[in-house]
Amino acid sequence: MISHDKLFIPGPVEVSEKTLAAFARPMIGHRGAAFKELYAGIHPHLQELFGTKQPVFLSTSSAWGVMEAAIRNLVRQRVLCCMCGAFSDKWLEVAQRCGKEAEPLQVEWGTPIDPRQIETQLATGKFDAMTLIHNETSTGVMNPLGEICAVAAKFPEVALIVDSVSSFSAMPIPMDSLGIDVLLTGSQKALALPPGFSLFSVSEKAFARAAELKDRGYYFDFLEFKKQQEGDMTPTTPSVGHIHALESKLEDIFAEGLTNRYARHARTNALVHDWVRARGFDFFALEGARSITLTCVKNNRAIDVAGLTKCLREKHHLVIDGGYGKLKGKTFRLSNMGDETEETVGHLLGCLDDCLG
Ligand SMILES: Cc1ncc(COP(=O)(O)O)c(C=O)c1O
Repeated sequence: MISHDKLFIPGPVEVSEKTLAAFARPMIGHRGAAFKELYAGIHPHLQELFGTKQPVFLSTSSAWGVMEAAIRNLVRQRVLCCMCGAFSDKWLEVAQRCGKEAEPLQVEWGTPIDPRQIETQLATGKFDAMTLIHNETSTGVMNPLGEICAVAAKFPEVALIVDSVSSFSAMPIPMDSLGIDVLLTGSQKALALPPGFSLFSVSEKAFARAAELKDRGYYFDFLEFKKQQEGDMTPTTPSVGHIHALESKLEDIFAEGLTNRYARHARTNALVHDWVRARGFDFFALEGARSITLTCVKNNRAIDVAGLTKCLREKHHLVIDGGYGKLKGKTFRLSNMGDETEETVGHLLGCLDDCLG
């Protein structure tokens, strides 16, 4: 029996008791042998999850820290920002605030980025980097990563920065074979860890680019992360609790098996999709571009979304999202990321039915 409101928002999500217990373990010093053993012990599993032979870094920041870092470490002059929702749209402004020239490749919310448009833009030769959000959490759109990476591969001068914040570990994203230069994710989505921590990996090409650039700062300097990781350490004092929790979560992930984990996310997502169709709702994201970790439901039935979220919370102790930013009330979002199963997602859907009456 859960004694708190359970989160079915698209992050942060419910954190298991096992993970929370690991998060609360006694502290260890981050320059001592115990920490080095901890980092060295989890590193091969992280490389497997990232699909990379490159080092995987632990950042004591939320994902935005690494998103900004990628701009500062990789953009020489001008970056193309692929924009299809609240998070990808904001990356343009973040790049500009970092003093870089940034140009939008904007598509309407609900539609995915078209790889052909990327090709047209990169062919101008104006860009030395591009940003992409794989799974745009605000709209429930999942961009065609394979096709986009194939286009980007035609432009070796362009560093490809990919945010997999809300898709990482729910499906394979093989960084090396896709040719991604920075792949980053946050802790509070499919990894089902407490928020405030992120993971990322960096290609050789991206390290070389970073070495050319001044103004990388210190806290997020990719070369500093690399140097410290070689000794199984982080540049600054990390959130040790998160790393203990990550170790515990990796045990769970590899005990389940990656293939089983990916299949479970696909099945729970399909359950939600079936419910959406059966209840006469539409999807906000176009068919063929729908996320497998969350569903952004279009409020075509004009229901009282605020009333629905209130009923779910007060009567069933479940929390869903009532629409992000300008989509508030026009959509609601249901997450199936993390530890959720057919049983727990089925329970959520039953409670939604109860509240919808
Ligand atoms: C796709 C995506 N990117 C980036 C972020 C930003 O993450 P944070 O607020 O943890 O920095 C989010 C947060 O929801 C997200 O969904």
